[in-house]
Order: sequence, then C-alpha cells, then structure tokens
Amino acid sequence: MFTARDRLKLLAGGAAFAFTGCGGGGGNSSTPPPITMTPPTPPTPPPAAFEPAVGQFRDAFSGKFAIGAAIKTSQINEDGRDAEILENQFNSITSEFEMKPEVIAPSEGVFDWTAPDALVEYAESNGMAIRGHTLLWHQATPDYFFAGTPAEVRARLENYVTEVVTRYRGRIFAWDVVNEVVTDDSSLGDPYRRSNWWDASGGNADYIDWALEAARAADPDCLLFINEYSTRFAGKRARYIEVIRDLVDRNIPLDGVGHQMHISVETNASDVLAAIDAIDAEFMGLDQHVTELDISIYADPESCFADQTGCRADYGSNVPEDILRTQAELYRGLFNGFSERNSIKSVSTWGISDAQSWLDTFPVTRTNAPLLWDRDRDSKTALQAILDPDFTP
Ligand code: XIL
Repeated sequence: MFTARDRLKLLAGGAAFAFTGCGGGGGNSSTPPPITMTPPTPPTPPPAAFEPAVGQFRDAFSGKFAIGAAIKTSQINEDGRDAEILENQFNSITSEFEMKPEVIAPSEGVFDWTAPDALVEYAESNGMAIRGHTLLWHQATPDYFFAGTPAEVRARLENYVTEVVTRYRGRIFAWDVVNEVVTDDSSLGDPYRRSNWWDASGGNADYIDWALEAARAADPDCLLFINEYSTRFAGKRARYIEVIRDLVDRNIPLDGVGHQMHISVETNASDVLAAIDAIDAEFMGLDQHVTELDISIYADPESCFADQTGCRADYGSNVPEDILRTQAELYRGLFNGFSERNSIKSVSTWGISDAQSWLDTFPVTRTNAPLLWDRDRDSKTALQAILDPDFTP
C-alpha cells in the first residue's frame, strides 16, 4: 500500500523527469502535469558472495598438487573459524613457526614437542599431509647451535636433524631441510649466504650437506627440500640453480626445490612461472613445491625490505578495489600456470586468512591482505578467480 510518505517521495522523484518532459516549452498552463503512479523499482540486490563448496579448492587441483596452508597451533585451538576453512578447503599443512629449532630445541639438550606434536596429530586426524618447516635456517635458531668447532657444530646439527626427522618419520611427507641458504649478494663470487651457519661451518657451506644427509638417514622416504625466496629474479635464480647443481652433481640427497613465493600485486605471473620452468629445464625429476605463497597488496621498493624506508603507505581498512582485482588476476594466472606444470606437487599459502598474516608486521607494521580469505573469514574474489574461469574479478 502507498502511504502518504511514499506518494510524497514519488512526487519529488518524478519532478525532474516531469520538467525535462516539458521541454521547457510550457510554463503558462495553470493545470499541473499528470502524475503517473508507477511503483518504485526495488533496488537490485548485491550479487551473492562467492562461497566455495566444501572441498572445492583442494578438489580443483586433485591429481596435480596438494593445497596447503601455514598454520599455528593457536589457529586450531581457537574459535574454530580457521580450522573450518582449513578442514573444508585444504589437504596439507605447514607449521608457520612451531617446527623451527628455537621452538623445538630452545636450549641445548632440551626438546619440546608440544606444538609440533599437536600439529602433526591435528593433520593426521583430518587426513591432511604435513610439510615440515624448517630444519636449518639462519633465523629462529638458538645461538648454542653455532658454538664450538665445525666438528662440534656438525655433530649438534646432525643430532638435531636426526631427532626431529626420526620423531615424525613416515608422518611428515616433505621437509624444508635447508631454508634461505642462497645469498642476495651478487658480488661474492659464490652463491652462498654469509650467515651464522656459514661461519659455524668454518667459512663454507658444508652444513647444507650435513643437514641433508642426516635427514635422509633418519627417514629414507621423506622428500627432502631446499627452499628459497625471490626465485623469480634472474640473478637469485641463477645462484639457486648453482647451489642445487652442486648438490645434485655430488649426489647429496635432495628430492625437491621450494619456491617461497612471497610476491606482491606488481609481480608478473610469467616471471614466477619462469622460475618453475628454469628448474624443470635444469633438473628433470626434482619435485617443485610452492611453499609460502602470499601476494602483498603493497608494491614496495627494495629499500623497504633492506632498511624499512620507502615502504608504501598503509591503506588501513580502505584497500582499493582495483588492487584486490589485480591480486585476484595474479592468483588466477599463477594457479592456471601451476596446473600446467607437472613437477609442481604442492602449493601452500603462508596463512589462511588476512586476519593472521606475517605481512601485517613485515617488512613494516601495516594492514595487509595477501591471502584468499579476508579478515572476516569470507572468501575473497581471488579465490573465486582461481576456481571459476567465467568470473571476471
Ligand atoms: C615467518 C613466520 O610467518 C613468522 O610467524 C615468524 O615469526 C617468522 O617467520 N620465510 C620463511 C618463513 O621461510 O619461515 C617465514 O615465516 C617467512 C619468510
């Protein structure tokens, strides 16, 4: 029923139309223009938000690669929102930090298995695969690991790797045995990062062999990975290939090559996929895992990572739509490309939703939105872009 109020609104709304309709030609008539009582058009409802069917994400790539996420025990113990997404859409997990040496072996001779055990048990009870991350890194490792002679360092490292890999033998299907051992410095004359591990080995990269050999001895069936960032850049990639080539030529155990893939909205899918193709071309038979995928909404210059200067300004809660569209298109381009590459056996995002991403504090504290679910745990257009070829972000 029309109320008086509706009638008033109609009249007001119709006024502009009525005047245009008059063409400015009238004005001398004392009779008002006739009013047609057309009911107001109801507003078009917004399109229903995309909600993936249970299993849709992992099923879309079944037979090609696992779909993983980095998680922390708090996410499986909390209110269940992350666990629900994880259990519905993923079939693999990585520990975001609770399988690093500083958590597992905080002081010499002390092992704390609480968090890694909880993650492994959670994954197993939900039928998920587990990627171990990481046995050797220049960060998140207590200082005692680096004390003493190279022989002492080696014995300690071998003992640590043996303890951890043995505990989860047959349960963790792939380990990032060595993480970020390639240098960013193109002027060194060799491809190895100068780090606490380099120094403790006696100024060489022997620790890479020690870790890989101990891992193989502890679990002959586990896939052993080397893992690295910025593999899309030609110089870094060439150094990565040099390190891998040396391991392969000397028959040091190695089953796969990891690409962290912390990228941003300015990254081109073709550069990322070129890194996968370069490894395929050099090392037929090695698996490839995308280990830590996320797409920052900020296209930062190098200086932002080097000394936190020149970083893009925080969008706060107003992330521009076109940035999210670009992100969605990049996610789509990547997953399409991954699907076409047989060596890729696992793709993991570094987190589940934008509510909990390490990029909120790295390289600076700022709101980021790098993942496939938003802060309210609603799936983003990026996920729809991956799963629905007819969708235009
Ligand atoms: C990060 C985690 O996300 C943080 O929670 C932690 O405090 C520091 O490490 N490359 C890696 C990961 O290989 O282990 C890092 O994870 C991110 C960069």
